[in-house]
Amino acid sequence: MARLTITQSFREIEKLDFRILSVIEILMAKHEFVPLEEIARFMKYSEKRIENRLGRLKRMKLIFIAQRHYLGAALTFIGYDALALKALVEKGILAQIGPEIGAGKESNIYLGMDDDQIEFIIKFHRLGKLDFRATRKSRAFIAEKRHLSPLYESRLSAEREFKVLKDLYEANTSVPKPIAQNRHLVVMEIVKGQDLYRMKRNDFENEEEIASLFHNIIEEIKKVVSQGYIHGDLSEYNIRLNESDYPVLIDWPQFISTSDSQAEEILIRDCQNVINYFEKKFTVKTHYDISEIVKMMD
Ligand SMILES: Nc1ncnc2c1ncn2[C@@H]1O[C@H](COP(=O)(O)OP(=O)(O)OP(=O)(O)O)[C@@H](O)[C@H]1O
Ligand SMILES: [Mg+2]
Repeated sequence: MARLTITQSFREIEKLDFRILSVIEILMAKHEFVPLEEIARFMKYSEKRIENRLGRLKRMKLIFIAQRHYLGAALTFIGYDALALKALVEKGILAQIGPEIGAGKESNIYLGMDDDQIEFIIKFHRLGKLDFRATRKSRAFIAEKRHLSPLYESRLSAEREFKVLKDLYEANTSVPKPIAQNRHLVVMEIVKGQDLYRMKRNDFENEEEIASLFHNIIEEIKKVVSQGYIHGDLSEYNIRLNESDYPVLIDWPQFISTSDSQAEEILIRDCQNVINYFEKKFTVKTHYDISEIVKMMD
């Protein structure tokens, strides 16, 4: 459903619509709802002309409109998606999008394709809920707590994820190769294979295979720590096995630094999640002593 919204409206969005969307984006740094008057002034168009267009953008669910002491507009997530997707298209990174292959608490995962039919993953970060009908915040409140704007938070989350993927990938850690980032979107390589949580005991030939997978995961965690990072949400849900059954660590926006005051606690929790999973699901004793990894941080 979300895919249809993205692709359908994307084709109908005209050049002027896009220009208005980007002006609203710029002016949202100052306003929760950007006054029609300011959009018109910024673009040197009559208010009447902009107002007509705003109605159209609202019907396409690209913006919210609020009528308070003035008529104002704000981007929806779909409007923000449109701006980010357009930027990726213009950079020659993206040619086609869809289908959606997964949705988490704070993201939607889509397949994308470039001009050479190479497929990749587009991760849409979505932090917080945009529901302007329910909010009645003053402008001062928004100005002070700009970081609480869901679009802004989502962009920060994508930037964080892209940066850590880049660092880790360059250091030969097993993470998806990052390709690009724009606003709240991260484009990365597809890890063909499957999520660890879907693996069954019978998918392995023998206990050695299970032990070797566990060993490889620990080796990857060590590489991450040696780069000064801790995943922070590591579990069978954020580990994929590639086509050679080698583990790939995914889903990074909540990573922390090994210099964080909670580093030890969080690293132990990450490792313990993996150990518990192997012991419960595959009924193998890992005999692993986490202090080996924890000591790396000294
Ligand atoms: N690079 C990738 N290649 C293949 N599949 C992926 C890739 N990235 C994500 N996926 C699939 O999409 C799912 C969700 O991705 P990810 O874990 O990054 O976000 P999330 O779980 O939605 O985030 P959150 O933890 O906020 O819910 C993964 O479990 C995996 O099945
Ligand atoms: Mg996840």
